[in-house]
Amino acid sequence: ARSIDLAVIPGDGIGPEVVEQGLRVLAAALPAGVKLETTEYDLGARRWHATGETLPDAELERLKGHDAILLGAIGDPSVPSGVLERGLLLKLRFAFDHYVNLRPSKLFPNTTGPLAGNPEIDFVVVREGTEGPYVGNGGSMRTGTPAEVATEVSLNTAFGVERVVRDAFARAAARPAKKLTLVHKNNVLVHAGHLWKNTVDRVAREYPEVSTDYLHVDAATIFFVTQPQRFDVIVTDNLFGDILTDLAAAITGGIGLAASGNINPTGAFPSMFEPVHGSAPDIAGTGKADPTATVLSTALLLRHLGYEAEAGRIEQAVTADLAERDGTERSTDTIGAALAARVSG
Ligand code: NAD
Ligand code: IPM
Ligand code: MN
Repeated sequence: ARSIDLAVIPGDGIGPEVVEQGLRVLAAALPAGVKLETTEYDLGARRWHATGETLPDAELERLKGHDAILLGAIGDPSVPSGVLERGLLLKLRFAFDHYVNLRPSKLFPNTTGPLAGNPEIDFVVVREGTEGPYVGNGGSMRTGTPAEVATEVSLNTAFGVERVVRDAFARAAARPAKKLTLVHKNNVLVHAGHLWKNTVDRVAREYPEVSTDYLHVDAATIFFVTQPQRFDVIVTDNLFGDILTDLAAAITGGIGLAASGNINPTGAFPSMFEPVHGSAPDIAGTGKADPTATVLSTALLLRHLGYEAEAGRIEQAVTADLAERDGTERSTDTIGAALAARVSG
């Protein structure tokens, strides 16, 4: 019998609340012949307060052995900003070489965002996941004095840029619109920007069927709101991709619907699936968190592991569920129950 050996990191804030519903829908979507085995990892604010650990090497080793990882969210106001984000989440993305941070956006039915009713939004952001300003290449001198100097140097390698650009071209070639937009800021960030632009131009010759476009990131934010239908596949660096995908969520139904996959396309390490949103301390414990982003992340997870039909069923269940939403607030649990009922038939 087939099985899925899944590592689960519920994390902080609303993380455990949304993960519970994600697992519920995932289990309901799987055929009877597929066994879902989950191993929960106690990582996040609680662990840090108790032991000072963020992600011990032994846990990282154990995580390597799973087929995939489902993560809720990490980060808590009681922990200094950056400790868990860098020491846990980014450590996982870097250690497992998640160089493709895949963040699809579709305008869902019956949603209330600024662009509700526009049926044409369907794009995917391929965000680089292992380089850019995220690498921690910087420091501060004369810290805390009026003469403090702080740097965060963005790292961009030909190797790192080319592999993510190639992945984005392959995805664009497989989609009906076959369009790839590079988003950067090569009018100011000339060193990294030209590496990205030259790489896209070079790989483009291997994909004559894919049309390419370039936008500076500031202009891209305009078109996200005014002409989102112009986008198909977007490839961009780690930080621009972070910012653009919160905006993408906001224009397509809200941050509670935005899913992501941190993919290692080589299969050398497990890929990790998580909602785009964070731990939302402002609503944690209230039952207001929308688990849909996590549910849709489990669909990306299933697709990654080869369960295309089951992934599609989850996505259809979400679309059908949203189409029936009538504006009344529903709890985390109510949404999870409704989606689980739909996917199991
Ligand atoms: P956030 O995404 O947690 O919250 C932003 C806003 O969106 C809040 O008003 C929140 O209530 C709302 N929101 C988020 N998810 C929602 C959901 N599922 N349903 C309904 N509303 C939702 O971003 P933030 O406030 O900037 O960050 C909070 C903490 O989360 C920080 O510690 C941050 O570092 C961390 N964070 C973690 C991840 C992750 O684990 N992948 C991602 C982003 C932020
Ligand atoms: C995200 C988050 C993370 C990021 C943070 C928490 C490190 O904002 O997954 O979008 O910046 O990548
Ligand atoms: Mn983010």
